[in-house]
Amino acid sequence: MRILFLLVVAVYCLSVCGSVSEDTHTQSDGDGRDSSTVLPELNGVLVLTKENFNEALQQHKKLLVHFFAPLSGDSQRLDSVFRGAVEQLIGLEVKLGVVDVSKETKLAKELNATSSPPLRLYQSGDRYNPVHCPDFQSSASIVTWLKRRAGPSADIITDLNQSDRFVASEELVVLGLFKNLEQGFVEVFYTAACDLPDLSFSVTQNQNIFRKYDIIHDSVLLLRQSELVQVFKVTGSTSKEDLISFISIYQLELVTEYNGQTASRILSSSVLNHAILFVNKTNEEFQTIYTAFQASAATYRGRVLFVMVDVDEPRNGRMMEYFRVRETEAPLVRLVNLTSHVTYHLPSETLDTPTITAFCQNYLEGTAQPKMQSEVKPLDWDLKPVKQLVGETLEKVAFNPDKTVFVMFYLPYSEDSRSLFLLWEELAQHFLDREDIVIARIDASANDINLSITERYPALRLFPALYAERVVSFSGRRSLKNLIQFIEKEMKRAKKDRVQEEKDRKKYIEAQKAMEAKEAKKVKEAKQEL
Ligand SMILES: *[C@@H]1O[C@H](CO)[C@@H](O)[C@H](O)[C@H]1NC(C)=O
Ligand SMILES: *[C@@H]1O[C@H](CO)[C@@H](O)[C@H](O)[C@H]1NC(C)=O
Ligand SMILES: *[C@@H]1O[C@H](CO)[C@@H](O)[C@H](O)[C@H]1NC(C)=O
Ligand SMILES: *[C@@H]1O[C@H](CO)[C@@H](O)[C@H](O)[C@H]1NC(C)=O
Ligand SMILES: *[C@@H]1O[C@H](CO)[C@@H](O)[C@H](O)[C@H]1NC(C)=O
Repeated sequence: MRILFLLVVAVYCLSVCGSVSEDTHTQSDGDGRDSSTVLPELNGVLVLTKENFNEALQQHKKLLVHFFAPLSGDSQRLDSVFRGAVEQLIGLEVKLGVVDVSKETKLAKELNATSSPPLRLYQSGDRYNPVHCPDFQSSASIVTWLKRRAGPSADIITDLNQSDRFVASEELVVLGLFKNLEQGFVEVFYTAACDLPDLSFSVTQNQNIFRKYDIIHDSVLLLRQSELVQVFKVTGSTSKEDLISFISIYQLELVTEYNGQTASRILSSSVLNHAILFVNKTNEEFQTIYTAFQASAATYRGRVLFVMVDVDEPRNGRMMEYFRVRETEAPLVRLVNLTSHVTYHLPSETLDTPTITAFCQNYLEGTAQPKMQSEVKPLDWDLKPVKQLVGETLEKVAFNPDKTVFVMFYLPYSEDSRSLFLLWEELAQHFLDREDIVIARIDASANDINLSITERYPALRLFPALYAERVVSFSGRRSLKNLIQFIEKEMKRAKKDRVQEEKDRKKYIEAQKAMEAKEAKKVKEAKQEL
C-alpha cells in the first residue's frame, strides 16, 4: 500500500519534473582553497564518482550529496529541488554534489547509501558519519535547514506585536512558549525545527504572549492563518519525536485532498490508518458528504488520517485503479491499514457523520470486515434459482461456452439494487427448467470484478453461450417481458453469428484446399515438363 502511494507520487513527479540536462562541464571550485584536482561539475553541482569522492571531501568542509537514482520519479523531483538551491547557497560554504547510484554502484554501497535518505551532509571530510537529511519539499527548505543547523533554528520573539506579525507571516507556523530560553525543552524545540525546514518556528518567553493564548505551562502552539490549531503541552519526558509527531498530525487539515503536492505529506504522516473518501467534487451532493466526513475526522485526529480523492480528476486514475474504485461507485469510503495493507469498505449508501464515525470506530475496535478480492463461495451457491456468484467463480460460470448466463452486479446496501431482486427471482423461475440458461447475481461491493462497468449499479450483463468472450449489457426497461426477450434475442444472435462464422470458416478451408490443389497441379506439371 505504502509502496503504491509512492508509485503514484513517482508517476506524478515524472510528469512534472522534466529531464535532467547532461551537459557536464568543468569549472574550478573557486573557493580559494588549494585544489590540485579540478572536480567535474554540472551547473554548479559536483559530479561525484568513486575516484573523486575523497578528493571532494577534502576540498569541501560541508558537502551535501544527493544519491541520485535516475529511474525514480521521487529522485528526479528531489534532483530539481536540489539543483534549485545552488544559487541560494552562495555564501553558505556548502558544496552540492551528486552521485548517480545507477553508475556508481560500488561507491554507493561503500558509503552505505543504497537506502533512504538520499540526501546526506558530509562534514569535515568525515566519510563515515554524514548527517541524514530530512525530506525537502523545496529548494528554500534546503537553505533553511542548512542555516538552522549553523545558527539558532528559531527566531526569538520579544513582544506581542512581533508575535502577531509572525503568526500572520505564513499559512502555518510553530510558536514555542517557554519560560526558559537558555536550556531545557527549548533545545529539543530547536532540533525539531532543524528537522522540519519546511515550517517556520519562533520561540518566546514573553508573558503577554503566554496570556494572549491562555498558556501557563511550557507549550508549543500550531497556528494556521493566525488561528490557533492546537496546543501541545510539554512535560519533562517529551521528546523531539513526540513534538515532530504532534506537528505532522496537526499540520494537515482535518481532511487532506489527495494531489501531487499533498501526497508526500500524507505518506510521511505518522498516522498509519487512512480513511479515504472517493467523491466527485463537481457533483452537487459533494458539500454535504464532505462536511459529514470532516465532522468525523475531528473525532479521530491522530488516529485516522482523513483523505479525499476527487474521482472527477483524471490524474487520480491510478489511485482509483489501485483501490479498484470505479467513478460510478462514488461516493464511497475506504479505510486502509498501512501496516497490514488491508482495505476495509464502508457498506452503506448513506454517508453521514454517524455512519462514517461508526465505521472508523468498528475499524479501530477490529470488528470491521476487510474488503476481499473474492468472498468465499457459498456452499449452496447453485441450489437456488438465482445462482450466487463470487469473484472467484464469476469468470468460470459466466464464460462457460455451453451456457447463456445473465448476471446482476449489485450492491447489497443499495435501494436501487435491492429493488431488482424480486424481478431477478421471477426471471430465474421462468427459466428454471432450461439447462442452458443461468440467472445469477454477484455482490459487486465484496468481490473484485474484472469487467468494464461504467453505469450505476445494479448492472446487468449477459454472457451468451457459444461465445466465451462475448459480454452484452442490458440497458432497456427492466420488466420480466423485456428481460426474457433480451435473453432469447441474444441467444439467437449468438447462434446466427456462430452459423455464419462456421460458413465463413468452411469457405475459407475450401478456398485453401482449392489453392493447395492448384499449387500441387502446377508442381506436377512442372515435373512432367522436366
Ligand atoms: C557501512 O556499514 C558497515 C557495516 O555497518 C561499516 O563497517 C562501514 O564502515 C560503513 N561504511 C561507511 C562509509 O559508513
Ligand atoms: C504595538 O503596536 C501598537 C499599535 O499597533 C503600538 O501602539 C505599540 O506601541 C506597539 N508596541 C511595541 C512594543 O512595539
Ligand atoms: C462528476 O459530476 C459532474 C456533475 O454532475 C459530471 O458532469 C461528471 O461527469 C462527473 N464525473 C465523473 C467522473 O463521474
Ligand atoms: C493494522 O495492522 C497491524 C498489523 O497487522 C495490526 O497490528 C493493527 O492492529 C491494525 N490496526 C487496526 C486498527 O486494525
Ligand atoms: C482482467 O481481464 C483482462 C482482459 O479481459 C486480462 O488481461 C487480465 O489478466 C484480467 N485480470 C485479472 C486480475 O483477472
